[in-house]
Amino acid sequence: MCGIVGYIGNKNCVPLLIEGLKRLEYRGYDSAGIGIIDEGISFIVKNKGKVSELQNRLEVLNLKANIGLGHTRWATHGIPNEINAHPHQNEEGTLFLIHNGIIENYKTIKKVLQQNGYKFQSETDTEVLAHLIDSFLRKGFDIFKATQLALQEVDGTYGLAVIYAKEPDRIIAARKGSPLIIGVGQNENFIASDVSAVLAHTKNIIYLEDGEIALITENDYQVKTIHNEEVIKEVEEISMTLDEIDKGGYPHFMLKEIMEQPESLRNSIRGRLLIDEGTAKLGGLENIIDDLLDVDRFLITACGTSWHAGLVAEYMFEQFIRVPTEVEYASEFRYRNPIINKKDAVFFISQSGETADTLAALRETKLRGGIALGVCNVVGSSIARESDSGVYIHAGPEIGVASTKAFTSQLIVLALITLLIARRKNLSIENGREIAKAISKIPDQVAEILKLNNKIEEIADEFKDAKNFLYLGRGYNFPVALEGALKLKEISYIHAEGYPAAEMKHGPIALIDENMPVVFIAPKDATYDKIISNIQEVKARGGRIIAIASEGDDEIKDMVEHVIYIPQTVAMLKPILSVVPLQLLAYHIAVKKGLNVDQPRNLAKSVTVE
Ligand code: M6R
Repeated sequence: MCGIVGYIGNKNCVPLLIEGLKRLEYRGYDSAGIGIIDEGISFIVKNKGKVSELQNRLEVLNLKANIGLGHTRWATHGIPNEINAHPHQNEEGTLFLIHNGIIENYKTIKKVLQQNGYKFQSETDTEVLAHLIDSFLRKGFDIFKATQLALQEVDGTYGLAVIYAKEPDRIIAARKGSPLIIGVGQNENFIASDVSAVLAHTKNIIYLEDGEIALITENDYQVKTIHNEEVIKEVEEISMTLDEIDKGGYPHFMLKEIMEQPESLRNSIRGRLLIDEGTAKLGGLENIIDDLLDVDRFLITACGTSWHAGLVAEYMFEQFIRVPTEVEYASEFRYRNPIINKKDAVFFISQSGETADTLAALRETKLRGGIALGVCNVVGSSIARESDSGVYIHAGPEIGVASTKAFTSQLIVLALITLLIARRKNLSIENGREIAKAISKIPDQVAEILKLNNKIEEIADEFKDAKNFLYLGRGYNFPVALEGALKLKEISYIHAEGYPAAEMKHGPIALIDENMPVVFIAPKDATYDKIISNIQEVKARGGRIIAIASEGDDEIKDMVEHVIYIPQTVAMLKPILSVVPLQLLAYHIAVKKGLNVDQPRNLAKSVTVE
């Protein structure tokens, strides 16, 4: 979604803004722009397309300024073009602003402004903010107050930054529903939609909360609510490093993130596994563990890949904790008037911790008295901060839009949660030890699978021109089928479906012919014999089969065109291993098709609008 960066200080802001925008490219965008103030005059440069094009234009213009804002836009209202790109200005060009989010009542506000003579240039919801703030400036308010008053009239979500040429020593920044941080420096301050944009310059971060508005100058900042109450903010020092958000020699972030899974998984379990006691130690759940032992039901809500992790957790929780568990898309959960009471524990799984639907579902849960538990990657994200308790997955920054290492870290952390609660209920120490030992081996086993990269690349070459793919799995590996299909479709634009293998007979089998590659996730587990029958059914209809199977399974080799072997582990952990070849397969197919793997069309890394 849209990226925001802003600078005020003693340096030339233009290269800093471009650098910040490049760091935000991973979020997904379709146009980019910057606005600066130089000697009391504002300059806006914006275009459809990439930040690099914006950079080329700025190099020719050779602009310099000590205050400015930069933006990458992911279109919601109005097509991606120069006019709809941010910043947006008031009519006299003295005020400009950038915005992430959606102004839901923009049509009403626009109508009133038009009746008062305001002329609009763009189709965006954002432009109403520029004119609305301007209408308060015309009444004699300063820019801080004018923005405060304007925001009181706005419904919807925003991460917002405003600069006014007549008060050129300040940036006004506000947040509701879309993340915004202040980066505190020496004789300079930054604002950004996420810390990666400012990390090269400061690690001292202030997280704005919903309803807060900040006045930021070169050497100071002041935070209030939009209703003018004072707010005292803490500066937090973050531990993320620049290395963590660079490509590290890989051609794409996605490949880097797939390849670093042994390390990210090690980080997810570090200090959390008690093998002798056959359990786990999760500081984030300590204050709430007694309540969790007594819940009537677990609910899990999430979106996309995180929802797939939730589906795996449903199998884990019901098998080992023996408490009914339901998994639901956050977007459905939030609007269906869910029945929740204080003996329901609801997990919110989110890599970014900022997904709008998941965050809204969390707030709904808290309103209704349920226990809200976050499972997030991004430290300090909204879901992490607003949850009653929770666990960080510690996968490290994930930049590629297609989620890979966050998924496997979510799964291993959900396995730790299962182990912790199940052992406090009725899982025996022997069974607990078996699972704990298996968890400890997972990072090395993933490293083994990654050695098959070249072989998987060859398979990708053979199948890159397929128009459709089917992914089939059963039990713990059914969600992996969904995840494999999602990975392929989001980066290669090949239509792919994930299905429970047994469901195939109820419809999708009609699709099978010699042009249909079918990926079976078929490791040795309780459903193995059944899935072998499903493989035979596909084979009988001429389907081309790629199988993910357990090491030592020689039987499957003769039934399928390609087999990729994964090491043995307990059933609940198999998805962590079986998904890795599918990530690589999707990656190589997309690369061979010449596509932008890290920033696929139409997608955003963090979906902060509904
Ligand atoms: O940040 P979150 O985990 O809440 O994001 C949820 C989905 O938007 C995300 O998993 C999306 O489906 C990815 N593009 C999948 O690769």
